[in-house]
Amino acid sequence: ADAPAPDKEYTFAIIKPDAVEAGHADAIFAKLAEAGFRVAAQNEMTLSREQAEAFYGEHKDKPFFENLVTFMTSGPIKVLVLSAPDAIKAWRELIGPTNTEIARADKPESLRALFGTDQTANALHGSDSSSSAMREINFFFDGWAYDNMPAETNFAVI
Ligand code: PPS
Repeated sequence: ADAPAPDKEYTFAIIKPDAVEAGHADAIFAKLAEAGFRVAAQNEMTLSREQAEAFYGEHKDKPFFENLVTFMTSGPIKVLVLSAPDAIKAWRELIGPTNTEIARADKPESLRALFGTDQTANALHGSDSSSSAMREINFFFDGWAYDNMPAETNFAVI
């Protein structure tokens, strides 16, 4: 059987340039709080090309890589550490399908359906696994995980 969902877990999220530019950040913060997420750390920044290429390095051979890097460097983003029970899976559920058009058709209450633009500009990012969450949090918040995560959290033992 699957392991029980952790009581407290951390994940990493980005409010992407389209959603920041459109002024959706406050509405997104309200929705995530309503869904039971706490913001444990946050920063606003504009990614350099080098940072975006490094962050999305696992996708460097994908046909959309150039498009993704250009989009993610196009304006300010908000990078967030979120905590909640079963945060990694719960956040991916809340943001919905990657493609905004599919999100609108299949999960109209999801945050990408509500705040995304199209296939490229999809408003939000969420870590897809514990190892990704650890890597991504440390990418943007150097040393934060080690200073802030109690040893007993699910996250820290991965
Ligand atoms: S894959 O191939 O299944 O691993 O890719 P996927 O998980 O769907 O997407 C990985 C990230 O790439 C972004 N993406 C795109 N960007 C621009 N153009 C196109 N066509 C495109 N397709 C996928 C997608 O939004 C994911 O970004 P993150 O930040 O991880 O949400």
